[in-house]
Amino acid sequence: MNTTQAPISAVDAAHARRSIRNYSPQPVSEETISALLTAAGKAPSAWNIQPWKVHVIRNQELKNKLQQAAYSQSQVGSSQVLLVITSDMQSSLANLGSRFAYLGQEKAASQADSVRSVFAKMNTDAQENWARSQANIFLGYLLLVASSLGLGTSPMLGFDAERVKEILGLAQNVQIPALVAVGWPAEEGFVSSRIEFSELAQHWN
Ligand SMILES: Cc1cc2nc3c(=O)[nH]c(=O)nc-3n(C[C@H](O)[C@H](O)[C@H](O)COP(=O)(O)O)c2cc1C
Repeated sequence: MNTTQAPISAVDAAHARRSIRNYSPQPVSEETISALLTAAGKAPSAWNIQPWKVHVIRNQELKNKLQQAAYSQSQVGSSQVLLVITSDMQSSLANLGSRFAYLGQEKAASQADSVRSVFAKMNTDAQENWARSQANIFLGYLLLVASSLGLGTSPMLGFDAERVKEILGLAQNVQIPALVAVGWPAEEGFVSSRIEFSELAQHWN
């Protein structure tokens, strides 16, 4: 791996993480991206459906086009790697068998039937929103693992999803929960605060 540090713990990574929008020219290896995505891919999802996918973009021309679609946010074009996280419930429903294969053939078929019957009661928007909410769990894992590996990331919702879909040739139903610019940090990021613990947690002892 190309990291300058051994991975730090999840707790330390959560405390250390900040959005990073300026990157060092040092390349981020395929090995590092694989380590990042493999660990992030361990994120849990309801019924283990994992309705997410990641487009890993290194092509500079493509990054420049996507930067335009992201209201010219410079970290899109200057990232070493741009990750476009998508979710797609239609495709997940079509591939339920593979998601449940670990259960064995009989249980997998019955699990797929019961999941299909739940989603049959939802309209397309509700299905895609559900998939998007699951993909956000993946996004959280991704940001945390990146921090653990010492990578800088900038998660973004500031983009025109229709233009991004057009540039990448994605189907209309596909959702884009986030773009994530990735690189070795060349800045410390901004200091920001979080809500107080007393506001975050309500105890019912
Ligand atoms: C889903 C999501 C979307 C975001 N979109 C943008 C964005 O489009 N542009 C940007 O500069 N920062 C964006 N941010 C960064 C947030 O502003 C930032 O996470 C927040 O202010 C806390 O700062 P920190 O990430 O440094 O801890 C986004 C963050 C998240 C999690």
